[in-house]
Amino acid sequence: MRTTHMKLKHVSIGALALALIGLTISASARIGGGPVIELGDPHRSLSAEEMEQFLRGRKVFDRDFHRKDGLGTPDMNADSCRACHQDPVLGGSGGLDLNVSRFGRDHFGSGPFEDVAGGQMASKLRSPWAAGREEHDPTIADVYEQRQTPPVFGLGLIDSIPASEILANEDPLDLDGDGILGVARMLSVQGVLEPGRFGWKGQIPFSFDFIRDAMAGECGITTIPDGRGFGLVVDQDAVLDPELSQQDFDDMAFWLAELAPPQRGGSSDPDVVTGESVFGTIGCAKCHIPTLQGASEAVHLYSDLLLHDVMPPFFRGMAEPGAGVGMYRTPPLWGISLSAPYMHDGRAETLLDAIQHHDSEAAGVRQAFEALAQAEKDALILFLEDL
Ligand code: HEC
Ligand code: HEC
Repeated sequence: MRTTHMKLKHVSIGALALALIGLTISASARIGGGPVIELGDPHRSLSAEEMEQFLRGRKVFDRDFHRKDGLGTPDMNADSCRACHQDPVLGGSGGLDLNVSRFGRDHFGSGPFEDVAGGQMASKLRSPWAAGREEHDPTIADVYEQRQTPPVFGLGLIDSIPASEILANEDPLDLDGDGILGVARMLSVQGVLEPGRFGWKGQIPFSFDFIRDAMAGECGITTIPDGRGFGLVVDQDAVLDPELSQQDFDDMAFWLAELAPPQRGGSSDPDVVTGESVFGTIGCAKCHIPTLQGASEAVHLYSDLLLHDVMPPFFRGMAEPGAGVGMYRTPPLWGISLSAPYMHDGRAETLLDAIQHHDSEAAGVRQAFEALAQAEKDALILFLEDL
């Protein structure tokens, strides 16, 4: 269950104070181990100055933007980042009611997919008088796709995974003959090709690029350009652009990059150990690769950051250059028990449902799961819950 908008604000202000106290306590809290890192904590120990910036950045993510701040273009989905990324703590995921929708045209399923004028993003909130796109007119748009709000923990570690590490796992021609392909989403940024690490379709290279993109797409807030082409530089409201200051941007980027990934439960239950080995033997780990090497440490994200088609036949959804209909980035599985419902559109309510919704490239692996003894299936779920 999710707390309400207002209640959550209280929680986050309280947590802010706790974060300061917690940092000193948690360092000595665990006997014989490292510091206990809670969801929402920084990944490493920060200097006092860095901690201040971390908390300032957190506040920007928690900030309610108003019309005078340039909220809306006039379209928008929400008035804060927190509005969607809130479960179970600030920076977390969001429920079905917070899904963002996209729309386009695929000629009632016969294809090809086409963008409609103005792009794919449908905004939930807009002033009724704003001239706009008629996304609910079936003669203009005939295909829709919901997108779930993913959590934003550990993104700095994912930023640090070099392109070469991601590209090494591509297998577009299925040379190993296992039915699993895997291609990186390559994006041209300032004339250079970079792999997309974030977004359901791997559409954004770095977490700081996502801030610009989300400020524009979700809140209608303009940002100072850095030449990489993400976000909006000018919009149609009366507020002077850029609407977000460089300081606020830098603070939020710091917070986002320093947020610790969800920590493993570390259960010693033998079933969790069995589940982990089942995860490997039936082939989940072929796409949900447990560890990729980051710039300075191993990143236990359970993803290859590549696009795969695991949707059923006749699936209808959005296409983008480099990510066709049905192609999604393997989502990281760290902290996965905290972000139900699952899959890009929230079609799966539980972890078991999520596994059962794997098809196409993952059909063989799903069948291997179905052939397991009940005890092994249960063990696999227990393992996922421990991540
Ligand atoms: C209306 C709900 C909503 C709001 C408000 C929102 N987000 Fe998101 N966020 C989403 C959804 C949905 C996605 C997945 C989008 C996609 O890939 O199509 C997402 C994805 C992200 C990701 C990428 C996570 C990953 O692992 O791929 C980041 C980073 C992010 N948002 C940051 C922000 C920031 C910063 C703000 C405030 C400026 C914000 N979001 C506001 C719904 C929201
Ligand atoms: C061929 C690659 C591939 C294989 C094999 C695979 N997955 Fe996935 N998995 C994906 C992709 C891609 C998605 C995202 C699909 C979507 O968003 O609709 C996904 C989504 C998920 C999700 C939901 C994540 C979220 O954030 O919503 C879970 C849980 C999951 N997989 C677990 C597993 C398990 C357990 C196995 C083994 C039984 C497995 N996967 C096998 C590629 C794969």
